Amino acid sequence: MHVTDTLRRPLRDLRISVTDRCNFRCVYCMPKEVFGRDYAFLPREQLLSFEEIERLARIFAGHGVEKIRLTGGEPLVRRDLELLVGMLARIEGLDLTLTTNGSLLPQKAHALADAGLRRITVSLDSLDDEVFRAMNDVDFPVERVLAGIEAAAAAGLTPVKVNMVVRRGLNEDSVLPMARYFRESGHILRFVEYMDVGHTNGWRLHDVVPAAELVAAIGAELPLEPVEPAYRGEVARRWRYRDGGGEIGLIASVTQPFCGDCTRARVSADGKLYTCLFAVRGHDLRAVVRSGASDAELSRLIGDIWRVREDRYSELRTAATAEVPRVEMSYIGG
Ligand SMILES: C[S@@+](CC[C@H](N)C(=O)[O-])C[C@H]1O[C@@H](n2cnc3c(N)ncnc32)[C@H](O)[C@@H]1O
Ligand code: SF4
Repeated sequence: MHVTDTLRRPLRDLRISVTDRCNFRCVYCMPKEVFGRDYAFLPREQLLSFEEIERLARIFAGHGVEKIRLTGGEPLVRRDLELLVGMLARIEGLDLTLTTNGSLLPQKAHALADAGLRRITVSLDSLDDEVFRAMNDVDFPVERVLAGIEAAAAAGLTPVKVNMVVRRGLNEDSVLPMARYFRESGHILRFVEYMDVGHTNGWRLHDVVPAAELVAAIGAELPLEPVEPAYRGEVARRWRYRDGGGEIGLIASVTQPFCGDCTRARVSADGKLYTCLFAVRGHDLRAVVRSGASDAELSRLIGDIWRVREDRYSELRTAATAEVPRVEMSYIGG
């Protein structure tokens, strides 16, 4: 019997953060002033080992998890990540994917595909080099991410999904050029509303460009029509170009929250289980794993945590919730 929470939501997806480190300092995620060289990243021994991650993944799969996404921080800065991909790809019936900033894909795409990865999501916030360098804040050029996307496609990690976070006043002008560029490319562009994860990015509601505004702006030039969701709990709302030029997705977690269908758990790089992106506290699975617990004991613990889950932060979001403490996206895994 698969486990469900207090709102009858099953446990279907798992995001695993493999590192809290990143080679970018995106202004909306790990702003340099806060995450500069002095930031206290987790020491290596506190990270879950590949063997510990594989063991947990198998136990989660036993509870009904069908999809695992590796994330971070930047997952490709974790050494030999393809070895972990190979271990997870052997778990039967699992849809395995990964989210990356794309910077290391030209070197890594083939090894990941050979290890058994089937799909990938690459984050890219602008095609305008100046805007993109300012947003990643480490002067990383657009063309190298585009090369990463092409390397992923060439390695068969298709369709490549491209995620663009839109923040008002920063990259709104990049929305239409991105839509034009990725139309008919075979890659699926998804626009992500800027979210109030963590505290370091100084989030304000004013900075969120609502998905409806984006659909209207794109649709005025490139007419769109809605597409039915592929499955319950699909986070992106899909739209297709009326002329057959492909589709786009909108992830509207601020203006159209999807908590009611949220089937996702997250494990941080140091092995804490979070049942919501906006959770304040995680459950320390690493301590239990390292205490010598059996698979059955771990499985029971995870089931018990999920059964009492009642999170629906985005539906309850109000001015007051801005003050509630939250963990950073780079730690919990976006
Ligand atoms: C935290 S990153 C981790 C994976 C990888 N480093 C990357 O950038 O794709 C995962 C996703 O979260 C998005 N993200 C980070 N901070 C965000 C925020 N405040 N609001 C919305 N999306 C955010 C990123 O753009 C990225 O697509
Ligand atoms: S969004 Fe991804 S690439 Fe950018 S700082 Fe966060 S973890 Fe790094």
